[in-house]
Amino acid sequence: MAKEINTIGVLTSGGDAPGMNAAIRAVVRQACANGKKVKGIRRGYQGLLEEDIIDMDRHSVSDVIDKGGTFLFTARCSEFRTEEGQKKGAEICRKHGIDGLVVIGGDGSFAGAQKLANLGINTVGVPGTIDLDIACTEYTIGFDTAVNTAMEAIDKVRDTSTSHERCSIIEVMGRNAGYIALWSGIANGAEDILIPEQYDYDEQKIINNIIANRKRGKKHHIIINAEGIGHSTSMARRIEAATGVETRATILGYMQRGGSPTCQDRVYATMMGAMAVDLLCQGKTNRVVGISNGEFIDFDINEALGMKKGVDPYMIKVAGDMSK
Ligand code: ADP
Ligand code: F6P
Repeated sequence: MAKEINTIGVLTSGGDAPGMNAAIRAVVRQACANGKKVKGIRRGYQGLLEEDIIDMDRHSVSDVIDKGGTFLFTARCSEFRTEEGQKKGAEICRKHGIDGLVVIGGDGSFAGAQKLANLGINTVGVPGTIDLDIACTEYTIGFDTAVNTAMEAIDKVRDTSTSHERCSIIEVMGRNAGYIALWSGIANGAEDILIPEQYDYDEQKIINNIIANRKRGKKHHIIINAEGIGHSTSMARRIEAATGVETRATILGYMQRGGSPTCQDRVYATMMGAMAVDLLCQGKTNRVVGISNGEFIDFDINEALGMKKGVDPYMIKVAGDMSK
């Protein structure tokens, strides 16, 4: 028989993402609506091991839906990667009466949730990362806000780049994933987009492209470079030397992780946070929620972590066609 859950814990873990607060709010409110007690675990698995745990009720999450970041804070915790750390975490959950746990984060955080599930704590993961790099879901909380922040910033760089007839390399976040680069590259009409999924890009081809575009009278040349490729400043120096076109690098950095979440992030965060609680209330464990073909779905965490995701080659092709 499915275990009945009395107290639901919630934590955010790994890199923060706009919309995490909306997801926490949904977890707390849905749990309260189902008559469950709620505990907030601050600073992810690190806070769990340090028993940084607070009681929450529906008023604890007033006025947070529009706020960026995560008011429960987040952290990376190496101790939780060890078996002792995981056992200690499960014991602390039991000590505080937490028999169901919602983990909002990325694949690494889900791996932690899987370990707790194996130790008898019912867990459900909610995908929260600006990188959009969780294979089991078409959407991750934070992506829409982050990519719009990047797009607006790139528009501004493009203005000054055109005025000065320069080439601009703009580095966006995505250490292992090129979604922000690809989407902002298409949205900003970039001439070249470099993503970690295609690490073996041809710099000489970019240089030839810049020279050809200059001859055709183009006033600027925008290169979107994902963090996973990196080296934007040295790349700018090499491109300027080879083309004779003044070239500047701009690294957008952490601004992409902050800011008030967009409507899409607030709505999806609310739906997925609520669904995570519904699954726990049904006695489910070791699950992760997501969106597939426009529908909210859930997967076994083991299955979800085994899935692979790649950028759509057709999107890459169209992005290239647009700049020809
Ligand atoms: P994300 O959740 O965004 O992928 P990380 O990979 O940094 O971020 O993972 C966040 C945290 O999850 C880590 O600091 C660690 O505490 C925990 N974690 C990651 N991988 C594992 C694992 N294999 N087993 C247990 N815990 C893990
Ligand atoms: O949140 C996603 C991300 O921006 C990744 O693209 C990057 O690898 C990582 O976070 C860097 O985060 P931090 O500097 O906090 O480790």
